[in-house]
Amino acid sequence: MQIEPIKQKCALVMRDVCSQLQAIHIDHLERKWITISMLVIGLFVGIITVDAFFHGVNPPSKVETVDSASLHLNKEFAEDNLGVQVDEKGNVTVRMVAGRYAFFPKHISVPAETPITLRWVSMDVLHGVHIPMTNMSTMIVPGYVAEITTTFPKPGEYPVLCNEYCGLGHNHMWSNISVIAKEDWTAPVKSPANGGSNNE
Ligand code: CUA
Repeated sequence: MQIEPIKQKCALVMRDVCSQLQAIHIDHLERKWITISMLVIGLFVGIITVDAFFHGVNPPSKVETVDSASLHLNKEFAEDNLGVQVDEKGNVTVRMVAGRYAFFPKHISVPAETPITLRWVSMDVLHGVHIPMTNMSTMIVPGYVAEITTTFPKPGEYPVLCNEYCGLGHNHMWSNISVIAKEDWTAPVKSPANGGSNNE
């Protein structure tokens, strides 16, 4: 591919735009305000950029990818591995799949006042998940794993709502999670064949 002609064309277009901009009469005061607005925008972008570097800001998924079309064949998100799992160290992990128009598994029970890592994937389109009274609010983008660690402050029924428009049934896409007092909660027992952490 010829790069030189493209470069020349770009330079020409740039020169043209610059000369046109210079030809426009901009009032002195207006020019001042344009400069101030640009500086403010630059300041905000700068703050976000610096903050992202220093605090390691990144998408909630940490850009972990997954093949949405073959979730049923995927080790982690195969049907048997969905729901609540507790590893040897007592860490609680919940794996859930969002699909038009429900969250699977349909119902789970988790302990209150315990950090719970929720891992979400979508099997079709963009969904969202919002659990009021917690920090749980994320997009579930097809092809990516969304991971959030949250703690349910007290026992009760917590609604799980889809907060991204995903189709005609979007407003029916909700379920709930039963949060049980820490001392009353027992980890679900799974058969050794599919239980435990199958992270290979
Ligand atoms: Cu799923 Cu809206």
